Amino acid sequence: MKSEIVTRTAPANPDTIGMAAAILAAGGLVAFPTETVYGLGADATNGQAVARLYAAKGRPLFNPLIAHVADTAAARAQARFDAAAEKLAQAFWPGPLTLVLPKADGCTVSALASAGLDTIALRVPDHAVAQALLAAFGKPIVAPSANRSGHISPTTAQHVIDDLSGRIDLVIDGGATRVGMESTIVGCEEAGPRLLRSGAIARAAIERVLGVALRSGGARADDDAVSAPGMLASHYAPKARLRLNAARVNPGEALLAFGPTPAAGAEGALTLNLSQSGDLIEAAANLFAHLRALDAKATAIAVMPVPQDGLGEAINDRLARAAAAR
Ligand code: TXA
Ligand code: MG
Repeated sequence: MKSEIVTRTAPANPDTIGMAAAILAAGGLVAFPTETVYGLGADATNGQAVARLYAAKGRPLFNPLIAHVADTAAARAQARFDAAAEKLAQAFWPGPLTLVLPKADGCTVSALASAGLDTIALRVPDHAVAQALLAAFGKPIVAPSANRSGHISPTTAQHVIDDLSGRIDLVIDGGATRVGMESTIVGCEEAGPRLLRSGAIARAAIERVLGVALRSGGARADDDAVSAPGMLASHYAPKARLRLNAARVNPGEALLAFGPTPAAGAEGALTLNLSQSGDLIEAAANLFAHLRALDAKATAIAVMPVPQDGLGEAINDRLARAAAAR
């Protein structure tokens, strides 16, 4: 067992960025904000640093990491782009899209980070702090969501501290993340692009750019052929029991509401609303923080139905995983 280390928290500013880059260069672990959720960063090219990262998160070694790079040029050094990948990078980078691509011959990312696969997940984040850190460090940074494996993703520095204090070196506090939902992951495969994880960019927006439907299916992590190995059925697990698509609140349940009209029986129940006005973008931004807040106070949570369109696909995916038997 490794002993605890001191986790520092510092506001995002140029001094902190410089300190963070030095910690990464020394093989340390730095949590930082992106536009989606907080990431836990390590030097992608340093196998020992990557091993430390897996250990700090308690993440199984078969579950590969996303390498974050400054721009498309840096991504091209790591992976081979087909026509679909070119279109998607052009349309959505920098931003909350991750592409899974065949590794380039000169790929410098540690084999451990991609769990020995011949593909690599790449993302160009659109967040000033993430961009500043990538510029200061000058190499790819692997960064899974900065939560303990299987827990709810962090959208504030405090969420990171709650999960990982004593296990990582630094948390850069850049405030609450804007999008609040992880990046959408698309695998660019020979048979055509495939949706590996729904996320911050809606399926329809991606399909509009591609001009074809995304393939899907077979991507569930409990199937034999795991496509995005992190998509375990029971993930994003709160301690509380979740009851989805609830039309009413049972005695003793807290309520995760959506829309202007609370479910029947909500009077007196501890309630947080994903979006009073029924806005799915607002709901995505609130999802993980509201789950954490209700989980801290309740043992059972009724969740109102959320429509499946737009970011609803990703919201319902995360809710289903949070509710899955474990
Ligand atoms: O928004 C995000 O993507 C955040 C921020 C920090 O960038 N990161 C994030 O990372 O959500 P993580 O580790 O929580 O999720 C990465 C997902 C996992 O489901 C993993 O299995 C999948 O990406 N993945 C990584 N490399 C892959 C590969 N070569 N093939 C298929 N799936 C891959
Ligand atoms: Mg995660």
